Amino acid sequence: MKKILFVSSEVYPLIKTGGLADVCGSLPIALSELSQDIKLILPRYQALKITEEVRFLCTVRVDNRNVNILETRLPGTQVTVFLVDYPSYFNLPGNPYVDELGEPWSNNAERFGLFCKIAVEVAMDRAYLDWKPDIVHCNDWQTGLVPALLSLEHERPKTVFTIHNMAYQGLFPKVAVYDLNIPGPLWHIAGLEFYDMLSFIKGGLVYADYITTVSPSYALEIQTTEFGYGLEGLLAARKGTLGGIINGIDVEQWDPEIDPYIPQTYTAATLSNKQLNKADLQQHFALPVNEKIPLFSLIGRLVEQKGIDLLVECLPEMMTMNLQFVLLGNGDKAFEMQLQVLADLYPDKIAIKIGYSEAIAHVIEAGADIFLMPSKFEPCGLNQMYSQRYGTIPIVRKTGGLADTVTDTLPETLELGTASGVVFNEASAGALLEAIKRTLILYSIPSAWKKMQVNAMSKDFSWQRSAAEYLALYNNL
Ligand code: ADP
Ligand code: GLC
Repeated sequence: MKKILFVSSEVYPLIKTGGLADVCGSLPIALSELSQDIKLILPRYQALKITEEVRFLCTVRVDNRNVNILETRLPGTQVTVFLVDYPSYFNLPGNPYVDELGEPWSNNAERFGLFCKIAVEVAMDRAYLDWKPDIVHCNDWQTGLVPALLSLEHERPKTVFTIHNMAYQGLFPKVAVYDLNIPGPLWHIAGLEFYDMLSFIKGGLVYADYITTVSPSYALEIQTTEFGYGLEGLLAARKGTLGGIINGIDVEQWDPEIDPYIPQTYTAATLSNKQLNKADLQQHFALPVNEKIPLFSLIGRLVEQKGIDLLVECLPEMMTMNLQFVLLGNGDKAFEMQLQVLADLYPDKIAIKIGYSEAIAHVIEAGADIFLMPSKFEPCGLNQMYSQRYGTIPIVRKTGGLADTVTDTLPETLELGTASGVVFNEASAGALLEAIKRTLILYSIPSAWKKMQVNAMSKDFSWQRSAAEYLALYNNL
């Protein structure tokens, strides 16, 4: 049995802004089900949705600051969560990264720097919790200083750093090096320095004993200039200690057979019930209720990464076709506005909801026929997996985890029983439009469509296999 300290800035259902939270809320449970002693550590934000008892454990002093460590459990589980309680940094309205107005917290370096230092104190058992992990598993830039600081310690735990997204690196002006008391031996170009800036992510990429990312394809992509953001050389140099492990999903949370959010549950054997969800979704979004019209959908952060610009470019031509489109998301104001303008122009065909809603996300997955994910890059992506589980056929660009989890529909893959979506190559509106047209043809052949749905729904996206891969990695270290 391994003792694992799992470090993350978001954990579902306590706090979530994206897929990082889903993964950090479900992988630890899967590892605990493999009999591992895993504990999480997370800042105590104001917005945490705590349901279990909270207990004060101790006060730790770092950089002349007194920081409380509290303890709770992941809702509905026995998995321990340590909460780093420093109210002036974390007990504020807003999300983990931005304030109520959507502006990044001006002291993010200090906030996550302090979080990392407390994680190090816990990892070295200097918080007197009488528990010293064998492995410290860090996730994304917010935790990057942990492997760096631990590298300076004797008899330290082994460190794993998982990259969920190379686009976010935690880069701060050099003055942060002094503000955060970064030890001198870490500050050089082969260390935490990146073009005269302090790079949190480099702390993970340089100093972790092993680096993982969330799909095998993305592990290769980030070693190239197109996806590496200037860190491709470093990553290529570490290729012996860098691997991709595909994310699983929470198959209980996302199960059309028992989903409490959807009007009508269903399975691959009762696919006709999916139609009732479609009617409900059309009604919910005030679109004409018609079971024959192919209903496209998208849920996600409205940012460049997700290929929203390609979609905006395609929508006018899509409006000449017999289809409907619903969208749930928020993000860049420019994208929100462009989409709203189109929805106002075509109220019978496009309906959008700008915002964030767990409940509506489930209703869309259950009711839509097709899910769009034309991402420019996608380290893993979760919605294409949720979609397949709901028999909602994904259209995805062949990149990262999308390439690794969706099988394109071709005569051969239909024959083999593996076809589960539509995959296109080039990141262009033209290529996306071709994929949409190809999908409409498949949709018009009910026998083919049904096969695709059944193939998609019978795929295994559970954590079992991936959690076992993480465990094998911990054991190797
Ligand atoms: P990323 O982490 O890059 O945003 P993922 O596909 O890994 O992309 O995960 C996104 C997660 O966030 C999914 O669980 C998705 O359903 C959810 N999500 C994103 N935007 C919204 C929204 N507006 N409302 C509800 N859920 C959302
Ligand atoms: C990031 C990536 C997404 C991935 C998620 C969880 O947010 O953008 O592709 O699924 O992390 O690993």
